[in-house]
Amino acid sequence: MNSWMIKGNGMSLNENNVLPVSYEGEHAYNIHICEDYSQLKAVIAPLNLDGRKVCIVTDDHIAPHYLKKVEAIVKECANKVVNVVLKAGEEYKNLDSIATIYEKLIVEHFDRKDTLIALGGGVIGDMTGFAAATYLRGISFIQMPTTLLSMVDSSIGGKTGVDYKAYKNMVGAFYMPKAVFINFETLNTLPDREFYSGFGEILKHGLIKDGAYFDELLANAGLLLNRDAGALTNAVYKSCCIKREVVQNDPKEQGERALLNFGHTIGHAVEKLMNFEMLHGECVGIGMVAATYLSMERGNITKEDFDRILAALKEFHLVDGIRSIKEHMNAEDILLTTKSDKKMDGNTIRFILLNKPGEAYIDTTVSEEEVLKASKFILSF
Ligand code: GLY
Repeated sequence: MNSWMIKGNGMSLNENNVLPVSYEGEHAYNIHICEDYSQLKAVIAPLNLDGRKVCIVTDDHIAPHYLKKVEAIVKECANKVVNVVLKAGEEYKNLDSIATIYEKLIVEHFDRKDTLIALGGGVIGDMTGFAAATYLRGISFIQMPTTLLSMVDSSIGGKTGVDYKAYKNMVGAFYMPKAVFINFETLNTLPDREFYSGFGEILKHGLIKDGAYFDELLANAGLLLNRDAGALTNAVYKSCCIKREVVQNDPKEQGERALLNFGHTIGHAVEKLMNFEMLHGECVGIGMVAATYLSMERGNITKEDFDRILAALKEFHLVDGIRSIKEHMNAEDILLTTKSDKKMDGNTIRFILLNKPGEAYIDTTVSEEEVLKASKFILSF
């Protein structure tokens, strides 16, 4: 565990600590951005827990830190609280883990009015959401993300699911939580690598939607990397706003939501070729180098923009792993794996490129030669 604690003068959220999210035009749930669990009871009590059962799904890294605390608060609102503690890691994001959750719910006689809580990072959030979407054709669930990456990305927007064999997120459902409860305190126990990985998605939000936000992240890099509470609160809040806007406009990824896949086309290929041993944000970071390189090659962005983005990704430790990937793949492997990804659009590779920092677009004209060139570039580090 790390020895650092959130630094700075506390939170600066005031009235902005609740972000309402709509789904298909109707209010669906709120994102609550909090500094500890003191508001948890007030947030979850109105969610029909009274007299009902709740199952908290978490993993063996998170459970020792937060399970008892959360369980005690949930017990004040519900009739019975049980838990499932899964093994931590992407390798357990599979249908066997879902079966473990179903077993618990069946043994404990959970019915349609009962609730699941996901207490953990993206893997736990995605799996708990998928179990909630499918158990008895759908029961309520609450997202309680504990990693930087899941706070700004996977807990928002209702993508749930599991990996199938070597195929990431191949089986799943769009299914909305009843609430997202972010507690910054949980970042205190997040190892450095996972913390940096969260910035893969945070920088991505700036690059695809808001150039001024990207500049602000760079200007505050020192504070952010030092886990300053004020700077982090601001970044999480702004990233949640960007993610919210995108998923509200296009909840089922028929168009604009695909922009969130900036860096994911080659990022997913690298993730797969590395056997999921690298963190998601690290692979997205490498994928963003490739997509930014292609954006420059296309003449959309200048060499100065490219250098600035690359320097930012380096500063946030998002290309630290780039040297180690060379032993595991060559450019042809990346191309072949990219072509087998679900981000393909029929037979065309679907890329997200930049028009400029802060503005992205979907491009289906990227050729195999361009993918090879971008892959050779990242492997040349
Ligand atoms: N993580 C990408 C999305 O939610 O669409």
